[in-house]
Amino acid sequence: MTHDAPVAPDYVQRLAPYVPGKPIDDVARELHLDAATIVKLASNENPRGPSAKVLAAIAAAAADVTRYPDGFGYHLKDALVRRLGVAPNQLVLGNGSNDILELATMAYLRQGDAAVYSQHAFAVYPLATHARGAQGIEVPARDLGHDLAAMRAAITPNTRIVFVANPNNPTGTWIAPVALEAFVASVPHDVLVVLDEAYNEYLEPADRADSVGWIAKYPNLAVSRTFSKAYGLAALRIGYGVMNADVADMMNRVRQPFNVNALAQAAAIAALADDVYVEESRALNKRGLAQLYAGLDALRVPYVRSHGNFVLAKVGDAARINQSLLQHGVIVRPVASYGLPEYLRVSVGLPAENERFLAALRESLAHGAAGR
Ligand SMILES: Cc1ncc(COP(=O)(O)O)c(C=O)c1O
Repeated sequence: MTHDAPVAPDYVQRLAPYVPGKPIDDVARELHLDAATIVKLASNENPRGPSAKVLAAIAAAAADVTRYPDGFGYHLKDALVRRLGVAPNQLVLGNGSNDILELATMAYLRQGDAAVYSQHAFAVYPLATHARGAQGIEVPARDLGHDLAAMRAAITPNTRIVFVANPNNPTGTWIAPVALEAFVASVPHDVLVVLDEAYNEYLEPADRADSVGWIAKYPNLAVSRTFSKAYGLAALRIGYGVMNADVADMMNRVRQPFNVNALAQAAAIAALADDVYVEESRALNKRGLAQLYAGLDALRVPYVRSHGNFVLAKVGDAARINQSLLQHGVIVRPVASYGLPEYLRVSVGLPAENERFLAALRESLAHGAAGR
């Protein structure tokens, strides 16, 4: 008697798995390179390493790993409440902000429902939507950014969620607060607007929307943020959502009871208190962006001016250039799966890492030209 494997629903079979940035060890193994010499600028991580305060908090929390974490995240929520001026029942903690995006789809999408998002927007929006058997409505981008008028027009009676990334990954585009609030106000009240602010801390303070403040006016707005980027905790997987208490209640019902581990909670509390680290990270990023722009200008490589910690550069034959960069020990992110086959996305690194990328890109472009 043979045993057939269980059959997943067709909408699961059709999912295209998320492709992460290549880990350093994989590239070292595959290309016989010394891992210590490889530069990874592929996942929009903070290049500085964690702050000493975060490391101390993790070490202290490590003594308690035999216990389950606090499933409600009391202390972290308390810190967020004081920082954001919201009530604890308006918060949802996530295993990365990715978790918040997933929880939104779990709580609000049924098979047959639809979610609206922009072309070239973060890959998890279609993934999480399709994983629920719901329909994704991808709205053509304008100048590589969100076309909010077209997104508003794309909302159908079946639409339950609209995703907006501000700034957006992988394009680095940004929507000014006035236009964004007008959009949120225009969305029907029974459609949840998931405003993904994973790169919020990299924005100039004057460019930041008062999105959390808007929640009182728009109960269908959920804001997601992360500790993975400017706070430097990507490996720990921790993020949060801020929203109307009723919406938070629904998301908290569908999350697993201990979705955020204890080390992550302790680290996030320490990171949230360390304003200097975040401020220094933003300043370093600003200098890194300027360095990358100058280097790309010198190479006559067009790029999109970024509001995040990465730059989308139009290199032409991106698959070939990417392969060449890997051989030079530089990992960046190909974005063909985002409908951008001529582009590569490079995360802002430390100054020497940015220089390594620019030098490798110079050689890769020259090599291609000589081969033509
Ligand atoms: C726009 C955007 N949203 C959300 C995330 C998810 O990050 P995390 O789950 O680490 O918080 C990312 C990560 O790259 C992102 O670029």
